[in-house]
Amino acid sequence: MEKLISKNLVSTNREEKGKKVFIKTFGCQMNVNDSERIKGILKTLGYEFTENWREADLILLNTCTVREKPDRKVLAYIGEYRKVKGINPNTKIGVCGCLAQRMGEELDKRAGGVIDIMFSSYNIHHLPELIQKAEKGEKAIEILSEPPKNEWEMFEYPTVRENPYWSFITIMKGCDKDCTYCIVPQTRGRERSRPIRSIINEIKELVKEGVKEIHLLGQNVTAWGKDFETPIPFSYLLYKIAEIEGVERIRFTTGYPTDLTDDVIKAMGEIPQIADALHLPFQSGSNRILKLMHRYYTKEEYLEKIEKLKEVKPNIALSADVIVGFPGETEEDFLETLDLIEKVRFEQLFSFKYSPRPGTPASEYSDQVPDDVKTERMHRLLELQKRIMNQEAKKYIGRVVYPLFERYEGGKLVGRSSENKWVEVESDRKDLLGKIVPVKVERAGVYVLRGRLMV
Ligand code: 5AD
Ligand code: SF4
Repeated sequence: MEKLISKNLVSTNREEKGKKVFIKTFGCQMNVNDSERIKGILKTLGYEFTENWREADLILLNTCTVREKPDRKVLAYIGEYRKVKGINPNTKIGVCGCLAQRMGEELDKRAGGVIDIMFSSYNIHHLPELIQKAEKGEKAIEILSEPPKNEWEMFEYPTVRENPYWSFITIMKGCDKDCTYCIVPQTRGRERSRPIRSIINEIKELVKEGVKEIHLLGQNVTAWGKDFETPIPFSYLLYKIAEIEGVERIRFTTGYPTDLTDDVIKAMGEIPQIADALHLPFQSGSNRILKLMHRYYTKEEYLEKIEKLKEVKPNIALSADVIVGFPGETEEDFLETLDLIEKVRFEQLFSFKYSPRPGTPASEYSDQVPDDVKTERMHRLLELQKRIMNQEAKKYIGRVVYPLFERYEGGKLVGRSSENKWVEVESDRKDLLGKIVPVKVERAGVYVLRGRLMV
C-alpha cells in the first residue's frame, strides 16, 4: 500500500505544502465517503483543511444531482465561491461528483467558466495530476464516461474520517436497476462489486486503528457480489465481516427490497453485530406506480419483507425513502402510500417531491403532477409521519439501548444506538468514548434519547 501511495501521490507533493483546501460535500453517504478519500489524497499531498473558503487555495465541491434542488444548490454555491478569485486570483475551484458527471463541461459554461478542475467519482486518484495541470493555468477537466478497471485501487489510499470509532466502507458502486425516475445509473455507472479481499483488508486495517462500527455502503448494497464471475451472496460477506475480531457493529445502506433475500434476513438474525436498524426505500405504496417506476416488487411483497425482518429482529428500527407526486400518481395511489407508512410505522422517513431528471424516462411522461398537488400531498405525508414518530419514540422510555459513544461535548457523552438513534448521557466518563455502553432511557425525543449509564 505504501508503495502505491508514494508512487502516485507523494511524488507530486512538493509545491502543495502549506496550502489550504476547503471541501463542500452534497448528497448521499457515497459522496461523503468519496470526500473522505479525496481528503486522504489531499492530506498526503500536504494540504491543510479549512472551514473558511475565503482563505482556501483550493475549493472543491463534491456534488449531487439526484433532484433539481441539489442542482440549484450546487450552482448557487459555485456562484458564491467564485468570489474567491477576487480575493486570491490563484485559488482554484474544483467540482466533482454526480452533477459534474452529468453535465461535464456544460457545468463550467453555466458557472461562467470559473471551474479549474473537474473529475468523475471514477478517477478521484487522478486529482494530484489535475491539480498540477490547473496550477499551470490550464483547465483540468477529466470526466470519464466509464469507470476504469483498476477503480478499486484508489481504495488503498488513506482516508480522512470525521470520527475515529466508526467508518464507511464502500463495497459496491453503481446501479443496474432501471428506476424510471433516477439519474444515478447515468452518474455512477453499472454495478461493480468490490472484491471481498479488498473489503476485508480495509476493515482489518480500520479495526487496528480503533474502529468499532462499520457502515457498508453502495447504491444497492444488497446486490453486492452478483456481478462476479462466480457470484457471491451478500449474506456471505456479512458472515465474513462478522468473523473479523474487533468488529462490534455492522450497518449497511442502501438495500433494494427484492435483493433483501431470505438468506440476508437470516444473516441479520444470526449475526449479533448487525445493527437493529435498516433503511429500505419503498418509493411508493401503489402497485400501479411501482410498476411505472420499474420497481420490481409490490406493496404486499414489501410488507412481507418487513414482517420477515421483524421475525428475526423484533426491535428493528426501520427507515425508508418515498417519492410523492410521481407522474400519474392519483389521490388513490397516494392513499396507498399513506397506508403503507401507517402499516410499517417507520422511525425515520425521507420523503421527496418527484423531480424530473434530464434523460430519465419518467421525465418524459405526459401526466406530470402539478407542484401544488405534490406540496399538498407532502404536507399530509409529513403530518402522518410526525404523529408516528412521536408515538414510536415513546417506546424507548425505560428501555436499555447500546450507543457507541463517539463524542464528548458540553458535559455529555453522545453516541448512536444500534437503532440509529442519537443517545446523550450527562457524564464526564471520557474513558467510555469508542465503547458500546448500556444506557437506560429516561427521556425520548424523535431523534435523541436521553438517559443514564448502566455501567
Ligand atoms: N425525484 C425525487 N426523488 C428522487 N429520488 C431519486 N430520484 C428522484 C427524483 N427524480 C429519491 C429516491 C431515492 C433517494 C435517494 O432520492 O427516494 O431513494
Ligand atoms: Fe446524489 Fe445520487 Fe450522486 Fe448520491 S449517487 S450524490 S444521491 S446523485
